[in-house]
Amino acid sequence: MTIYEFARRIILEAGQNIKDKLKLELTIETKSNPNDLVTNMDKETEQFLADKINQTYPDHRIIGEEGHGSDIDTLEGVIWIIDPIDGTLNFVHQQQNFAISIGIFKDGEKYAGFVYDVMNNNLYHAIAGKGAYLNDRQLATLQSTELKRSIISMNPNWLTKDWTKDVYSPIVKDARSARSYGSAALDFVFVATGIIDSYITLRLHPWDFAGGMIIAEETGAIVSNQLGEKLHPLKSNSILVANPELHHEILNVYLMNYKDELENLHQGMFSSR
Ligand code: IPD
Ligand code: CA
Ligand code: CA
Ligand code: CA
Repeated sequence: MTIYEFARRIILEAGQNIKDKLKLELTIETKSNPNDLVTNMDKETEQFLADKINQTYPDHRIIGEEGHGSDIDTLEGVIWIIDPIDGTLNFVHQQQNFAISIGIFKDGEKYAGFVYDVMNNNLYHAIAGKGAYLNDRQLATLQSTELKRSIISMNPNWLTKDWTKDVYSPIVKDARSARSYGSAALDFVFVATGIIDSYITLRLHPWDFAGGMIIAEETGAIVSNQLGEKLHPLKSNSILVANPELHHEILNVYLMNYKDELENLHQGMFSSR
């Protein structure tokens, strides 16, 4: 069994475990603020995946949102970057619209990405260089769109804060429409399937983007930070993902008007995870 086949098997098992336990009462704790939640299912799912990987591949390294690999800062070998539940607020409030995300890198090169929309039983997956799939269906190469004919995804919170509203409201205003899904991993794969044309956000951690980035790039999406720079798999960053024409338009016609502000922000915020 390849690493890819193994990953596919364990992400589906992890999703089934979540479904099996959905009716049980959750233990919910807060992390950095009252709206930053973590549940026992986030922790159990990360542990389940880590145990499976460690048993089969003891030399692989694991980074997860809920604590695994917090000391890892180099890219050699095989690294699994895991978000056990992306969209925890959706999981707690809606019991849907959340995903398990896994990105696998070999010596710093993309190897495979998985985003499992558990409740819809939709597995988005890709091996780098071999195309992206939704379940058994290969995803088409993205069509180009202009902003005025595009649906973008963005958290509306960015439109409520002092200077970020100046940066992002012109983009929302000029787009055909905007959406907010509450799961970064799903936002990436929604760009990959073309149901939205761009996802823009100011801060994601590696586990939020690792799986989705590998899948989206297989469909021709451009994934960068908001200065147009490539993402580092181990570092938090801002995000702009879109089909190539739209990525170019949002970056050059909109974000570059705030280049100095964005550069200052990136220097302060994104030196680590
Ligand atoms: C969050 C979701 C959300 C994004 C946040 C992430 P979590 O991940 O992806 O859509 O806006 O920045 O932290 O905490 O639910 O895994
Ligand atoms: Ca979280
Ligand atoms: Ca996340
Ligand atoms: Ca999470």
